[in-house]
Amino acid sequence: PLVTSKEMFRKAYEGKYAIGAFNVNNMEIIQGIVDAAKEEQSPLILQVSAGARKYARHIYLMKLAEAAVEDSGLPICLHLDHGEDFEICKSCIDGGFTSVMIDGSKFPFEENITVTKKVVEYAHARGVTVEAELGRLAGVEDAVKVSSKDASYTDPDQAVEFVERTGVDSLAIAIGTSHGAYKFKGEPSLDFARLEKISNLLPEFPLVLHGASTVLPEFVAKCNQYGGKIDGAQGVPEEMLKQAGKLGVCKINIDTDLRLAMTASIREHFAHNPGDFDPRQYLKPAREAIKNMVKHKINAVLNSSGRL
Ligand code: G3H
Ligand code: 13P
Ligand code: NA
Ligand code: ZN
Repeated sequence: PLVTSKEMFRKAYEGKYAIGAFNVNNMEIIQGIVDAAKEEQSPLILQVSAGARKYARHIYLMKLAEAAVEDSGLPICLHLDHGEDFEICKSCIDGGFTSVMIDGSKFPFEENITVTKKVVEYAHARGVTVEAELGRLAGVEDAVKVSSKDASYTDPDQAVEFVERTGVDSLAIAIGTSHGAYKFKGEPSLDFARLEKISNLLPEFPLVLHGASTVLPEFVAKCNQYGGKIDGAQGVPEEMLKQAGKLGVCKINIDTDLRLAMTASIREHFAHNPGDFDPRQYLKPAREAIKNMVKHKINAVLNSSGRL
């Protein structure tokens, strides 16, 4: 069945591993991810952004997620990523999602608490889990652009107060990651001292790391080799993600690495097969590329293989 994040996070916290939360936009992406999780017998979160809902439409993603559960036999959590207000959260809860994120990180502290509490109240009454965010990541999302000077790291004491007052199930924190393919200008670095502090103040409470793609060099190189122009891309090194997983991070969000794996595969396909025009000819290897990349994440980063 579609499940909430509750039990997944409890086990992940205890076992010191993390659940991968992968952004989905269409059937091939969903199949690639779910096939990987099935082969690895790994718990899985599929997450849908406002942009994904606009692109594919709610009902298609909902039915694809249901098909994934039925086809794979896996417990899967279907989560709204970066819900910007109560309305979109309500719409996803009413429409069958088992988890939602209310991202009030752009608001002042008290307003973030108010909107988060409202979503928690509505969601919990219907058996749905809620993620919130405190502190601001830099980077670009469909609807949100945050410059690095407006980004700010999560304050540990505020995090405790926020969790207590909202009753939220998990919290996304800002410790130096950002969305997209250009996360660091120089050497990558995350504020692990801050993460450790937050984690110690909130024992057994699941933390969430957004902007957690590694921007795997192999895919950037392949894109560039076959006509792309992606310069200066850099993500979070795998070692750092593993460390975060040991410090209370139970959910690791990955979108950019899916995009790069898929695009690299399609670019390579057309470079070698310029005459092809049946979408199945290039989407089949693209789906396979996603599957292999996700299997790699499950083993090399999340440590979630065999944890059903
Ligand atoms: O957090 C952002 C995710 O990568 C989703 O991106 O809003 O372009 O669908 P999107
Ligand atoms: P990446 O851009 O690093 O993949 O982050 C995705 C994310 O945080 C979705 O909420
Ligand atoms: Na999210
Ligand atoms: Zn995010």
